[in-house]
Amino acid sequence: MSKAVAVLALGVWSVCGSLSIDAKSAKPQAQQAASIHYDEAHRVFRIDAGKITYAFGVNGDGALQTLYWGSRLAQDDPVGPAVPPKSWSSFDSIGANTPQEYAGWGGPITVMPDLKLHFADGNRDLILRYDSYKIDKDGLHISLRDAKANVTVGLRYTVDGDTGIVGRSARIENHATQALTIDSAAAASWNLPPATDYSLRYLTGTWASEWHVRTRQVTPGATVLESRRGSTGDENNPWFAIERGGAWNESHGRVWFGALAWSGSWSIRIDQDVLNQVRVTGGYNPFDFSYRLKPGEALDTPVFYAGYTDAGIGEASRLMHQFETTRVLPQAPRPKLRPVLYNSWEATEFKVNEPEQERLAEKAAKLGVERFVIDDGWFGARNSDHAGLGDWTVNREKFPNGLKPLIDKVHGLGMSFGIWVEPEMVNPDSDLYRKHPDWVLNFEGRQRTEGRNQLVLNLARDDVRDYVFDALDQLLSKNDIQFLKWDYNRNWTEPGWPQLSPEEQQKVYVVYVQHLYDILRRLRERHPGVEIESCSGGGARVDLGIMGLTDEVWPSDNTDPSDRLSIQDGFSYAYAPAVMMSWVTGSPNWVNERQSSLDFRFLSSMQGGLGIGAKILEWTSAEDATAQHYIAAYKDIRATVQQGRLYRLLSPQERAPYSATESVAADGAQAVLFAFLRQGQEAQAYPTLYLQGLDPNARYRYRSIHGEAMPGTPAVASGAYWMSHGIDLKLRSDLDAAGLVFERVGS
Ligand code: DGJ
Repeated sequence: MSKAVAVLALGVWSVCGSLSIDAKSAKPQAQQAASIHYDEAHRVFRIDAGKITYAFGVNGDGALQTLYWGSRLAQDDPVGPAVPPKSWSSFDSIGANTPQEYAGWGGPITVMPDLKLHFADGNRDLILRYDSYKIDKDGLHISLRDAKANVTVGLRYTVDGDTGIVGRSARIENHATQALTIDSAAAASWNLPPATDYSLRYLTGTWASEWHVRTRQVTPGATVLESRRGSTGDENNPWFAIERGGAWNESHGRVWFGALAWSGSWSIRIDQDVLNQVRVTGGYNPFDFSYRLKPGEALDTPVFYAGYTDAGIGEASRLMHQFETTRVLPQAPRPKLRPVLYNSWEATEFKVNEPEQERLAEKAAKLGVERFVIDDGWFGARNSDHAGLGDWTVNREKFPNGLKPLIDKVHGLGMSFGIWVEPEMVNPDSDLYRKHPDWVLNFEGRQRTEGRNQLVLNLARDDVRDYVFDALDQLLSKNDIQFLKWDYNRNWTEPGWPQLSPEEQQKVYVVYVQHLYDILRRLRERHPGVEIESCSGGGARVDLGIMGLTDEVWPSDNTDPSDRLSIQDGFSYAYAPAVMMSWVTGSPNWVNERQSSLDFRFLSSMQGGLGIGAKILEWTSAEDATAQHYIAAYKDIRATVQQGRLYRLLSPQERAPYSATESVAADGAQAVLFAFLRQGQEAQAYPTLYLQGLDPNARYRYRSIHGEAMPGTPAVASGAYWMSHGIDLKLRSDLDAAGLVFERVGS
């Protein structure tokens, strides 16, 4: 039997031999982080990576059929060959329900296709059949073809040897002599083993209330998670997890999970078909979608990443976190730690000016802040959200000498300098709009709906893309700036592009986002020292696409430290604490008038990248001292919190009274425990917390940042003790919190 084998070592694929080496000569599985095999005899492709095996084959019809996705199999375990499910009746003929890797809509197919298109001559039938494959340093490439229609689909599989996360995307090419129009295009379908006891976990929310975790049974029919808003949105996030059995345990259970790397309208659809087969199809949102391909043209889909674990949803999240920090972020595999930042928004809103920002900077530096960020209000005629967006020149009434004096001051205080921008938007009351009213998304002659008094620039236009790039490039070239907070505060409405023919206009859904990515990529190249935060009125643009081009994200405008516990918990299902910024702001909080101690606010914010957004000029010397204590303590633990392994010990979802997390450093030498009590429960004790992920044989000494363990708790004990006996904390009153650090002692 001949096989093609490629092996991934240290992130680089090396293809062994001539793509046709004997199976016996392949390295033993244990030594391979990842490998891709093609078994020619059975026409089976097999990916082994991390703790997973993923396999699919070419069936008798020539369709590419999923065979297995789960825990890693032994190298000589048989997988395949691929045989399509039997015909159940004349309503479901052979091929109608085949769990295809990438199905075109055509022939007998009744399930949701990955690709649907039509030609100018009226043909809408597309039958994609296996054509060829290639394995190279980027992974596995498969070519599917409809020979009659002259359309090819190139499937690409990338593999992460550490986490077992596979990335899949498709390139659709028109080789015909007539144009075709794509009606819907997914990146991939992920097929799960047939079963009737799956349940789905997903994320939903709205402004200032993002990241709620919801669970629902997977039943016959479809569940659609989506954004039709033009951007990622916070109504749903493009992430899913599906568990077998419905028990949803943090450390047990089979979980399939994934996320789409796309920052425009998207859809992830979970179908259970008539044969109880479950598939997850994700890509461009088919709603209002249309993309015309002239002969010779191609469309690339986003990448849909997915993984598997049999160690519960907690491990699924940790695999995502590891994948994001080591593979996705621009600075991967070793992203810089997030500095402690100060942001002016909640303190001064639009009323920014040089003297007050300088005073804020002086105070921030005294507290231990490392980055000072001036938020909205510094440019154009921006005195409220009614004017100025689009005019990226310094407001000389607020900063008579430009930004230089403030930037020099901030640098002199030993901090880096950051600034807010919202480059994709324009206020009708701006010089830019007065000059270029045709630059916004609109349908000719129709109303232009405003959101926060602003319109969306059509970034898909080359001239708009160039304007935005140049404005930001100038800003960064003329000023010594280290950080951009990139905001985006509304949805699309009336998404027309009147300058194009009606058949071409809907490609705005694709080209807009491609141009956004292009701007970010070029800015990073031109200004490699500049870091970027993705903010969208909070967390409405967090996804693996934008994450590949930004360094951190703003999960929510809701800075109430108690609400924030649920927000951060939900965020952590899909995304890493390494990118999750969190500010300490004022009490009572603007969202809900809730009052909380500075201790509670700091401990809540220390679960991610710590920031301060409070009116610090009004802080007393006691409050300054408290802040100094926490900021210094945070610097000692931030590597563990941001880039360690996160364990969710007590869930704050559904307004639960408790919340506790533990982060363990990559080398196991430190663990950080945060515990919160939102509401005292009569005189009841706080639940015992069992630590996880420690070395059972090592000894750990604990110390407190804030809060106490119950009397009798040993100062030093084994990892086994902390994990099995656990720790009891003295938390009794409303909005109480504790932060403890466990350090490994001795060898
Ligand atoms: C929305 C952001 O989420 C806030 O943090 C702030 O930057 C405002 N926009 C400024 O307009």
